[in-house]
Parts: sequence; structure tokens; C-alpha cells
Amino acid sequence: MSVTILAIESSCDETSAAIVIDGKVINNIVASQSVHKEYGGVVPELASRAHQQNIVPVVNKAMKDAGLVPSNLSAIAFTRGPGLLGALLVGTSFAKSMALALDIPLIEVNHMQAHVLAHFIDDPKPHFPFLCLTVSGGHTQIVLVKSPTNMEIVGQTKDDAVGEAFDKAAKMLGLTYPGGPLIDKYAQDGNPQRFEFPETVMPGLDYSFSGIKTAVLYFLKEELSKNPEFIKENLTDLSASIQYTLIKMLMTKLRKAARQFNIKEIAIAGGVSANSGLRNALKQHENKHGWNVYVPDFQYCTDNAGMIAIAGYYKFLEREFVGLDIGPMARMPI
Ligand code: KG4
Ligand code: ZN
Repeated sequence: MSVTILAIESSCDETSAAIVIDGKVINNIVASQSVHKEYGGVVPELASRAHQQNIVPVVNKAMKDAGLVPSNLSAIAFTRGPGLLGALLVGTSFAKSMALALDIPLIEVNHMQAHVLAHFIDDPKPHFPFLCLTVSGGHTQIVLVKSPTNMEIVGQTKDDAVGEAFDKAAKMLGLTYPGGPLIDKYAQDGNPQRFEFPETVMPGLDYSFSGIKTAVLYFLKEELSKNPEFIKENLTDLSASIQYTLIKMLMTKLRKAARQFNIKEIAIAGGVSANSGLRNALKQHENKHGWNVYVPDFQYCTDNAGMIAIAGYYKFLEREFVGLDIGPMARMPI
């Protein structure tokens, strides 16, 4: 009998629904929330309200696109955490109601595990064991992946996520939120060696990105006091130099992890994996260090329900279901 799962993602500022049939992700519908742009970051209360508005149309579209009616569904998968509690609550409540109404199993999915499992939506798929660098606005982790359900965080940020560092630096440069893609865009025309920002070196495989934010802040303050047009005149070089430092920090620990675990299967996940500087650095390592690098299709890099669907499918195969008394978890270990 075929297995058809509806998956729902609502952990941050994307409302998303996807359908997976027998391990094949059929569609991935995402409604992004533009309401946060003017605030320079995600406003939790506004995110919850937007999820409430978006969830029914997004789910309906996923079902209709796949030519399904509710009675075709074998299970409902949803993001339980980590994420914004109010945002998670919308997806969790919706998933629970549907599972109850249809009398079908409910599957909880860990958002960070799902980012890693996004690599199993399309070919080529990484071979186990592999390392996954998950880099987003909320997380920076090196994950040792032994199987679809057995993962261990071997390194992570102790303060800001790298996406947050991109966004905060972008804000200081006067760019709109989220500024990561804009830094990437301006960096293409800039000189990465022009300005030097100090790297914070943490023990082991951990990261710290809060220091660079402060360094950029003081540097800009100083330069702007001498020349109020400093940012405008140097935007491309500033973007390139900031991006260069952040990517260098990411790659140093990733290389260290690859050596430590003797693994050459390297995957990246999360919104920052769209960054062209990171992609170039990985390409160079592929040639120089013999790595096999895996980058998911862009739609599966940022927050999406396709990755929740594939993670839910693996859990369905293991019959890992949860009861209707389940609630969301803002913090949730991998
Ligand atoms: O995974 P994601 O969509 O959402 C979560 O944070 O969970 O990641 C969003 C983050 C933002 O910080 C955004 O600025 C960053 O990914 N980002 C980028 C690029 N595209 C997205 N950062 C640098 N370069 C990019 N091209
Ligand atoms: Zn995410």
C-alpha cells in the first residue's frame, strides 16, 4: 500500500506544506512572510498571525496540486521544534486537528534533523556517515550523520548563528532584512582582502560569531566619523571582506571535523548554504581535499515543508508516531 504524508512547517517565518508519496516529495508550497521586512528581523507575534492566515491556503494548494483528497493521506507530519513557540503552535495545532479528524497517525519532526534530511529528497544523496554543516539564521551546527535517524551535533555556535551575523552586519551597512543575500550580492564585485576583521577561535569544533559583529560596528563607527560616506563608497569591499571572514571561520572548523572523523562526504544545509562564497569555498575543497560536496536544491535549503515530509516519511517507516497530547518545543535537541 502506498504511503502518502502531508507535512507542515511553521517554525519561523515561512508557512509551508508538502506532500511525500512513497519517499518521493511531490510538491513544496511555501508562503513567505514579508511583514517582518520593515522591522529588521522576525517579529514572533506577527509570524504567528501570518501563519494562521497562510496555513489553510498553503495546505489546500499542496493537496490540490498533488490531486489528493484528505482520505488519501496515511499520516500528518509537522515541525515540533526548535523555533518560535507561537509560530510552531499554529502548525502543531493544525496537524493535530487534521490527524484527529482523519483518524490517521501524527509524526513529529525536528526542524534541524529535517534540514539535514533535505539531502534525501533528490539525487545525488550523501553516503553515511557524512558531515552536515547546517547554517541558517538561527543555527550553525556541524552534524555527524550516521543514519536518517541517528545524528550527533559535534560542533556549534556558542552565541550568534552565522546567518544572524550576516544579517546584523548587513543592517549596519544600511541593508534591508534579511541582509545575508544582499551582502552576497555586493560581495561579488568587492575585494575580500580590503578590510580585515578578527576571527574568534573557539575550542574544538565550536563557533562564535558575536565578536565579528562588534568588530564591524566599531570599525564602521570609526571610519564614519572621518568620512560619513564611508559605507556608500566601500559597500562592495565591506561586503566581500565580511563574507570572506565568516566563510573562512565556517570552513576552518568544517575542515577540522572532516580530518577528525576522517570523512570526505560533506553536506551543507540551511539558508546560508545559498551563499556563493560558501559554495565556492566548498568547490575548492572538493578539488583540493577530495571531498564529495552535497548541496540541496535551493528550495530545500531555506525553511520548507519538503524536508519535513522526507523526515516524516523515514519516521513513518519506523512507525514513530506521537499522541494528540503533544505540544511544540521552542528548544529541541537533535
Ligand atoms: O534556513 P533559513 O531560511 O531560516 C532560518 O533561519 O531557519 O535561513 C535564513 C538565513 C538568513 O539569516 C539569511 O540572511 C541567510 O539565511 N541567507 C544568506 C543567503 N541567503 C540566505 N546568507 C548569506 N548569503 C546568502 N546568499
Ligand atoms: Zn531552518
